[in-house]
Formats: sequence, C-alpha cells, structure tokens
Amino acid sequence: MAKITTDTTEAAALLRNSQLVAIPTETVYGLAGNGFDTKAILSIYEAKGRPRFNPLILHIGSTHQLSALVTEVPEVAWKLISKFWPGPLTVLLPKSDKVPELVTAGSHLVAIRMPSHPLALQLLKSLDFPLAAPSANPSGYVSPTQAIHVQEQLGDKIQLILDGGQCTGGIESTIIGFDNGQVTIYREGLISQEEIRSTVLNDDIVRKSIEPSTAKLSSPGQLSSHYAPKKRMLMQHPAGYDAERIGLLRFSKPLSGIPARNQIVLSPNGSLKEAAANLFAALRQLDTMDVDVLFGEFVPDIGIGRAINDRLRRASFRTGVN
Ligand code: TXA
Ligand code: MG
Repeated sequence: MAKITTDTTEAAALLRNSQLVAIPTETVYGLAGNGFDTKAILSIYEAKGRPRFNPLILHIGSTHQLSALVTEVPEVAWKLISKFWPGPLTVLLPKSDKVPELVTAGSHLVAIRMPSHPLALQLLKSLDFPLAAPSANPSGYVSPTQAIHVQEQLGDKIQLILDGGQCTGGIESTIIGFDNGQVTIYREGLISQEEIRSTVLNDDIVRKSIEPSTAKLSSPGQLSSHYAPKKRMLMQHPAGYDAERIGLLRFSKPLSGIPARNQIVLSPNGSLKEAAANLFAALRQLDTMDVDVLFGEFVPDIGIGRAINDRLRRASFRTGVN
C-alpha cells in the first residue's frame, strides 16, 4: 500500500532519490519520476507495464525550464503556451540533449506540459528537474481521476500518492505538434479543437493520431485498445440483451426499461464538462458491476465532446488479444 498524503516535501524527497510518486493534475493522476534520471524513468515503464516505445510527457512548473529541454519553440507554439499554460495543453517540440532518449522513446521530439493543479505546481516548483509522468494506470486500462484509483492498481508498486482530490478535468491533455509549422492535434483532450483554432487563428489544423484506434490503422501491429474497462463495452443500443445483465453508460438521461442500478448517467443536465469529469470513474464503476456486458452512448461531437467520444471509441475497441 502506498501512503496517501498532501505533503509535497515528502514527495519531493522521494523524487530526488529516484523514486516514483503519483501526482494529481487537473486532467488525471500521473505516475511521476525525475525526467533526467534514467533509473526513475525505467521504473515508470516497468510499474505501468508500458512498452518502451511509447514515450512520456515531461511536466514543468515554470516556462523558464523550457529552454533547457527544447532547441526551438515556434511562434505559434508560444501563442498556445501563453494562453493555455498552466493547463491541459501538451506541446511536441524538438528535444535538447538534456532530455534522455528513454523519455521520448528515441524520437527527436519531446512532449511537455505545465499542469495547473495547485499541488502539482507546488511540487514542480520545488524541484530542479522536470517530472516524466504518464497517466497512473496500468498500460491500457482507464486513467485514474482519484487517489484511490491509483492505490487500487499501483499501490503496491509505489511508496506515495500525493492526494489532490478528484481531478476536475477528468480526461487527458490535448497534444499538439507543429509539423512543418502546421498546427497538428495528436490527441484530443480537455482543450477543444475550437479553442485551439480560435487561438492560432488558422482553419488549417490537422488531426493525426498517436494513439492508434480502429479509425486509423497503418499496420495491424498497431492494433491496441486504450482507456478500456476489462468488461466488453459496445457503443450501441442494448436491444435484445437481458436488462438485468447489462451495464449502461449514458450521457444525460437513463434508458427506460433498464434498472437504474445498472445505469450511470454522466451529466443529468447535459454538460460535456461534467461528463468529462465523471467519465473514467464511471468506466471503473461499470467494471465492478455484476453484469456481463457494457453499453455506451456517444455524447454530442462538439468541444470536449470529441475527446470524450475518442475515449469511448477506445474503451469499446477490442483486438481479440486484450
Ligand atoms: O493529461 C495528461 O497528459 C496526463 C497527465 C498525467 O499529465 N498524462 C498522460 O500521459 O496522459 P500518457 O503517457 O498516459 O499519454 C501521453 C501520450 C501517449 O500517447 C504518448 O504516446 C504521447 O503522449 N507522447 C508522449 N511523448 C511523445 C512524443 N515525444 N512524441 C509523440 N507522442 C508522445
Ligand atoms: Mg495514458
């Protein structure tokens, strides 16, 4: 069992000593280690069971740290950073020699973000190194949005969880790259396409996926499910199934004819923000229900609804291997 605390000095001491600590952010909890320390970085991959070819995000507490980590910041990247940091924006920039190859999985680009959660910021500001931190879940499973979620799954692998309460955002950061100067969204997240567009004043935003799903597969080897509950989840109406043996994830209204105890409504008043904040805890709860199969419903595909739908697609995607 890990110790759950709000004491950042204890967390900092462990991190300075190559140990891992789970940290709260405004998106999801992260599994953090010293981003300059290969021993710590190796333990992150190991604790998560994450393949080494899947790189990590570096978290910083001040923009002053950027110059040591990257060789170049395009003007449009500054625009986004000035508007959204601290906050759920991750930028991909050319890495400096100071960033270990292990962090970027060999890529010349490093992913960086400055989280806005006050405890995370306080911790980061007390350190003279960035924190490498993927979401604090076993690879492939749903991301944690409460300290207890981390305890349940990684509590035996780490000493300390910094408790920042429930994550207010609930889904991960938006990842943006700048391919030949072109603003490219690599992962939909808490900052919507619309917000990015209005900031860069450019309609020519490209969408590419770094997290392969059914939608875009360049090779069968890339097939993988992410953010997925252990139970099978189908994104369709549950017609024909035994109402007692199914779990339902609904956006704003329960489905009539199905027992209330078998349903989770993400936002009774139809707020996408609230739905995002509740999504991952709901998937975890559905996984513990005594039912055979789960049914999900897509939310309106606008604003952060797009990121929610992206996670739902991945949660319901099965390779037959997983
Ligand atoms: O909100 C978030 O971003 C959370 C919190 C903890 O900050 N972190 C998070 O990390 O979601 P993770 O590792 O679960 O997802 C990061 C994604 C992965 O899909 C990874 O492949 C991609 O970012 N990524 C990281 N570094 C990259 C790089 N250098 N080039 C391309 N993709 C990268
Ligand atoms: Mg993750």
